[in-house]
Amino acid sequence: MANAKKRTQTPAKKSATKKAAAKKAAPKKAAPKKVSPKEVAPKKAIPKKAAPKKASPKKAAPKKAAPKKVAPKKAARVAAPPRRTLVRRSPIHGRGVFATVDIPKGERVIEYKARKITWAQADRWYADDDSKPSHTFLFTLDDKYVLDGNKDANSARWINHSCNPNCESDIVDGRIWIESLRNIKAGEELNYDYNITLETPHTPAEKRRWGCRCGSKNCRGTLLGKKR
Ligand SMILES: C[S@@+](CC[C@H](N)C(=O)[O-])C[C@H]1O[C@@H](n2cnc3c(N)ncnc32)[C@H](O)[C@@H]1O
Ligand SMILES: [Zn+2]
Repeated sequence: MANAKKRTQTPAKKSATKKAAAKKAAPKKAAPKKVSPKEVAPKKAIPKKAAPKKASPKKAAPKKAAPKKVAPKKAARVAAPPRRTLVRRSPIHGRGVFATVDIPKGERVIEYKARKITWAQADRWYADDDSKPSHTFLFTLDDKYVLDGNKDANSARWINHSCNPNCESDIVDGRIWIESLRNIKAGEELNYDYNITLETPHTPAEKRRWGCRCGSKNCRGTLLGKKR
């Protein structure tokens, strides 16, 4: 409405002048046409109305994100193999690893995953304190390397030792696999023979410090193996 009043006011003043002025009035009548840009204003208002349309891409964004994220998750769930082990308190020591299903003899039950470090690093980081009961998360890979179960490790690091084990370790291409030595029933604790070898003599005191509580009939009383 304000724009309409302005258009009428301008030609009204010029119509009261001479013919020339009237002639000029014609073009001056055009002036209001020039005012048309003001009419454009409402057209400009269209983009303003379109402003909400600009918002539409914002609405589109979540639409794109939602379905793309869902699809791979569903695929991952389908591909995930069932877990055959779980970690819980052990009657032998601290936490242990247990079978959740029957596991046949001769199968790879779990891989022992952990950060690979050198023995030199292990000696620096984990000095053995003779005054304390032993505890180690180190798994020997070879003469130079060891897997450090304190770092980036999976649940296999909780597997306890037994002198009558139902599993054994097998090192293939630098990877450590825990394999079943016999059929294992669901609920049984998994274990293997640590067969630890110290650089120092396996004295009775050291054997006690590395004492075994596996409870098997043939328990040798220590986690230490026979010294070569
Ligand atoms: C890699 S950890 C095994 C997880 C351990 N149960 C825990 O909760 O930390 C190895 C340590 O567990 C203890 N351990 C494992 N088997 C054992 C056994 N048969 N008797 C006594 N202690 C044992 C020893 O202290 C050993 O150094
Ligand atoms: Zn034992």
